[in-house]
Amino acid sequence: MNSTLNSPFILQCQQLTKVFQQGDNKIVILNNLNLNVKAGETVSIMGSSGSGKSTLLHLLAGLDKASSGNIIFNNQNLTGLEDSKICQIRNQKLGFIYQFHHLLPEFTALENILMPIIIQTKVSKEKKAYALDILAKMGLSNRVNHFPGQLSGGERQRVAIARAVINNPLLIFADEPTGNLDNTTSNQVLDIFLGLQQELRTSLVIVTHDNQVAEKTNTQYRLLNGVLQAKI
Ligand SMILES: Nc1ncnc2c1ncn2[C@@H]1O[C@H](COP(=O)(O)OP(=O)(O)OP(=O)(O)O)[C@@H](O)[C@H]1O
Ligand SMILES: [Mg+2]
Repeated sequence: MNSTLNSPFILQCQQLTKVFQQGDNKIVILNNLNLNVKAGETVSIMGSSGSGKSTLLHLLAGLDKASSGNIIFNNQNLTGLEDSKICQIRNQKLGFIYQFHHLLPEFTALENILMPIIIQTKVSKEKKAYALDILAKMGLSNRVNHFPGQLSGGERQRVAIARAVINNPLLIFADEPTGNLDNTTSNQVLDIFLGLQQELRTSLVIVTHDNQVAEKTNTQYRLLNGVLQAKI
């Protein structure tokens, strides 16, 4: 796609449509949705439960396939790329924080954070030191060797955030990263996360139901009827 070469956008999605087939019924969740994210920009997406926010993030991160439309990430059209190539791009250049933490129960906090590296190469001393540094920033220095089952909800979510930033990704997708935490913990975890994101100058697309969180982002959208609308 020559037209997108050297574009100021880290992510462009064009005419994205997702239709789920439920028996004989077709449910259109995303309907020719467009989104542009500039390098370094932070974008929030709000919307009612079931409006398709998680579906959209999964498509954008290549975790699920669109029914039609294009996703261009870092000047590369992901549509039609082999799964293994998409996996590689996701692993090296994208971070994803799930609505629920998705940590691997049989690995410690430190091992979970280093997982994106463990699965592609051997972990260097430097990377391990970096992971410990992030854990310290997250206030988790004394939880390094704990397993997810031995951590509180907020601690698990902080580990999941650390895992998403370990590779210094170009773009992080965060799906209600603090949605299941109490208000105080949620604010603390979000502030740490946004601090890290600013420090690394990573672009961010965050789904949230919290207006105050949305207001911390550069651009605010609402997902309604399968498309993104400027949030008023
Ligand atoms: N695999 C699937 N098959 C059929 N329908 C699905 C599938 N996945 C999601 N849906 C439907 O798509 C709609 C959007 O789901 P999605 O999880 O994206 O919503 P959401 O906006 O993230 O909601 P929430 O705020 O509750 O997390 C829902 O109505 C859901 O039932
Ligand atoms: Mg969701």
